[in-house]
Amino acid sequence: MSLMRQQMDEAINFLRTRTTTEPAIGIILGTGLGGLVTEIGIETVIDYQEIPHFPLSTVESHQGKLIFGTLGSKKVVVMQGRFHYYEGYTMQQITFPVRVMKLLGIRTLLISNAAGGMNPAFSRGDVMLISDHINLLGDNPLIGPNDDLLGPRFPDMSEPYSRKLIAIAEQVSAELNISVQKGVFVAVTGPNLETRAEYKFLRSIGADAVGMSTVPECIVAVHMSIDVLGISIITDECVPETLQPFSHVDVIEAATTAEPKLTAIMKETIRRL
Ligand code: HPA
Repeated sequence: MSLMRQQMDEAINFLRTRTTTEPAIGIILGTGLGGLVTEIGIETVIDYQEIPHFPLSTVESHQGKLIFGTLGSKKVVVMQGRFHYYEGYTMQQITFPVRVMKLLGIRTLLISNAAGGMNPAFSRGDVMLISDHINLLGDNPLIGPNDDLLGPRFPDMSEPYSRKLIAIAEQVSAELNISVQKGVFVAVTGPNLETRAEYKFLRSIGADAVGMSTVPECIVAVHMSIDVLGISIITDECVPETLQPFSHVDVIEAATTAEPKLTAIMKETIRRL
């Protein structure tokens, strides 16, 4: 048995002592985007630090809790707080919770993040459904021995974000009167925000939004045949000619302001699954 599989089993065995919930849907909530939790009928809350082999979130704005409960009539497991490459974790550590959620039974994963908008048509506070991604992290969570029981050595990436889920989210947004953008997300390591030259480059290679997360989790989910819906909240406008200084506090503020739109879309999308 692979070391990762062993660690997954240890995490699962622990979680099974704390909850009998069998979630069908996993949710990862990004920076300033924790509001969905208030909509959940909470059954069990477990601190990451209690779970074997879970890393600890080092970002102050991120809480570190795994929440089990129901949203509408659906059983869900929610990561309140996620891990980033810039915190110094390996890609395998960052994505370990996704592996564990798969063993818990999830077939669908919703991922949210705060992102910089490079498409000039995007404004601060916009919601962007992720249609595709570019991995510029310079690393990949699937590097190393492949566990064939989890997924293939060379996973297909022709549809990392489920077209079906995107279509549902678009339909839901229209019905809720929330305008949404759609576009390509590029992941960079951070932790610094980008230079003007970098934004120009990232835009030129076809990206609409940039952030420091989501891509590792998506890759690992696709590896294990989990359907992914990715949603970015645009927290800053990253057009080189008009770029303004921007801080992490601004990111959190913008995300928090736009968050109700995200919660509404996620809640209603999940109801229709
Ligand atoms: N760059 C990278 N990550 C981000 C940004 C950005 O401009 N805004 C929010 N997350």
